[in-house]
Amino acid sequence: SDNGQSPRPAMGWSSWSFVRRQPTEAKIGAQADALASSGLKDHGFVQVNLDDFWQKCDENGFTVDSHGRWAVDTAKFPDGIKALADHVHAKGLKFGFYVTPGIAKNAVLKNTPIEGTPYHAKDIADTSKTEKNYNCKNMYAIDYSRPGAQEFVNSWAGQFASWGVDYLKIDGVGSQDIPDVQAWDKALRATGRPITFALSNNLALDHASTWRALANSWRTQGDVECYCGPGSNGSGYPLTNWSHVSTRFDSAAAWQPYAGPGGWNDLDSLEIGNGDQAGLTADQRRSQFTLWSMAAAPLLLGTDLTHLDPVDKAMLTNDRLIGVDQDGAAAKRIVNSGVKQVWSKRESNGDYVVALFNTGTSGSATVTVNWSQVGFTGSGDVTDLWSGSHKGTVTGSYSATLRPGETRLVRVRPTAAVKSLAASPGMAVAP
Ligand code: GLA
Repeated sequence: SDNGQSPRPAMGWSSWSFVRRQPTEAKIGAQADALASSGLKDHGFVQVNLDDFWQKCDENGFTVDSHGRWAVDTAKFPDGIKALADHVHAKGLKFGFYVTPGIAKNAVLKNTPIEGTPYHAKDIADTSKTEKNYNCKNMYAIDYSRPGAQEFVNSWAGQFASWGVDYLKIDGVGSQDIPDVQAWDKALRATGRPITFALSNNLALDHASTWRALANSWRTQGDVECYCGPGSNGSGYPLTNWSHVSTRFDSAAAWQPYAGPGGWNDLDSLEIGNGDQAGLTADQRRSQFTLWSMAAAPLLLGTDLTHLDPVDKAMLTNDRLIGVDQDGAAAKRIVNSGVKQVWSKRESNGDYVVALFNTGTSGSATVTVNWSQVGFTGSGDVTDLWSGSHKGTVTGSYSATLRPGETRLVRVRPTAAVKSLAASPGMAVAP
């Protein structure tokens, strides 16, 4: 989007993976405090995103305010959303919020005029469409062709802006929901507040340029959470498993051309922070971070920051990795052969960044890349970005023998005398 937001991929924390259906003012506040006190904030993790279930939802479905907008669950947020946003802002962080746009059936029954208009909720409810229910029932899709629809969305966006929202995720957007996204883009711009606009899930690749024109990020796939094990009801771990991460290599490759300043391919939450308890081995966690960084994807943590594992904290505060993500170029996949993958990109300083992966779950694999596949010939000066150690000059090709789930991420500077090949395969160009 040209709305001026997200010149670089968003970084921070999202409530969904760990807090799931029971967010409260205290819990979100505690995660915000931990983001600041752990030092993650100083490495750029500044978003605190409250996801689903802030709204009042019971057996009758959504409760709505007098204009038909979702009502806050005051048992969870006794001081309201603005107080939470204020808390987050006071920590020097940014507040993210969530909505699944639709119009609740009980709003239709109440028939209250939409703020500032003569229209009523019933005027814009698309009762002919399949109900949009998601995690709370009795909600209709909005028919954006009807008078009142844009005003309704404007009033909702205006309310969010007045609460201090800096980032809004709209969920339930699929390939048919372009009018939703257009209406929310307009409404967010009309608030005059800078708000990053994120789309979920999952967006159709064949409309990628539309998402890019209208929003700052878009989920390329379903949920990274496995909803398996003790965490399935939000009461514990694990949060994900490797198969939910490894499938994202393909979507990151397919969506690569659409990442660039102002709009990013969202691969969903990073499940790093709580050691093995999140469901991934340390090798798999490093691979997740490596892929997300190579894809220039948003870095939104899904873990419990109040119990940060020291190994994971070291991963998350590795500025070399963060730098690869925030450089803003999305890597291309240049080798994809069974469990072996190689990704490459050229950063703005002219260096190449190359990631080697063994995506398998058993057996080691030797992964090899020729510098000619990366985009230059001769020798390169190699630095390992996970460890920071300098590997010296490597001529012709580079190989690493990797454990299952392990990655190797290197920065390569072609030696001075050698000219880079004209067509670099790793140069990301936003359309
Ligand atoms: C969808 C999204 C998740 C999360 C949940 C909340 O599944 O993809 O990221 O927002 O909804 O219900």
